[in-house]
Amino acid sequence: MKHYLSLQDIDSLDNWVEEARDLKEDPRKHKNLGSDKTIGLLFFNNSLRTRLSTQKAAMNLGLEVIVMNFGSEGWALEYADGTVMDQGTSEHIKEAAQVISQYCDIVAIRAFAGLQDKEEDEAEKVLNGFKKYASVPIVNMESSIGHPLQALADAITLAEQNTKIRPKVVLSWAPHPKALPHAVANSFVEMMHMQDADFVITHPEGYELNPEITKGATIEYDQKKACENADFIYVKNWSSYSNYGQVLNQDKSWTMTPEKVGKGKFMHCLPVRRNMVVADAVLDGEQSLVIEQANNRTYAAQIVLKKILEQ
Ligand code: CP
Repeated sequence: MKHYLSLQDIDSLDNWVEEARDLKEDPRKHKNLGSDKTIGLLFFNNSLRTRLSTQKAAMNLGLEVIVMNFGSEGWALEYADGTVMDQGTSEHIKEAAQVISQYCDIVAIRAFAGLQDKEEDEAEKVLNGFKKYASVPIVNMESSIGHPLQALADAITLAEQNTKIRPKVVLSWAPHPKALPHAVANSFVEMMHMQDADFVITHPEGYELNPEITKGATIEYDQKKACENADFIYVKNWSSYSNYGQVLNQDKSWTMTPEKVGKGKFMHCLPVRRNMVVADAVLDGEQSLVIEQANNRTYAAQIVLKKILEQ
């Protein structure tokens, strides 16, 4: 595996989940695999879990770690070819990616969607720019359209918690005051396409995700009906895709409550806005898996880095 850019880079989800669960039993088992190698973590956006869990995973494998808050500390990058750089950008991705490749054996990148221009976001200019010009493997720590490390951690959590042959899993939109990207929801849908489950997506009309990604999935516009008898309810806000990047409503009747969760398990990638996205009683209850999901981010990152180091 040269890069980890999306879930498509996983050859067998079941095997990776099993291997990640083994790593969780003995995280330092391969503590010398990354000896004398360096990973660079480049953040164009904020993070808590991704930053610390990826760093922890790298350390478990013996890698040296360099972290840079590129969005606030790096030179503003130019991505277009042939531009006369007489405006705000100071350095071209061509030089930046090649230079960073001299310092790092693996480069991991977080660069969110801007939500202003669908075409530009879907071009994944940061991730694909590094892929094109870097000479080392690239790891996606959440890009415009996907968060495959989160989805892999979620697959690990589902495997640990599931007791049924074919569980019912619901992905539910929830209200939020800000426009959020589609990346987490997109990757969760892609991951569920790789599982044998009764998978339902629920959201208000107007919040349909990219139909190329949801193709074949059941969409139910009645949230309560969707959540009936669910084994797992994964809650996430995202902005409109058709009315790109817009917040169409903040309808609090979509906030996740204990009544809707029923006997199911509650999942969210975090960070989460309490009593907006989900009621305190759900987050603080025994059915919430959010802390374990965050824990599994380390082992998701670790299996990805292990595969790259072994190639
Ligand atoms: N879930 C997740 O990616 O968390 P952070 O944004 O804090 O990294």
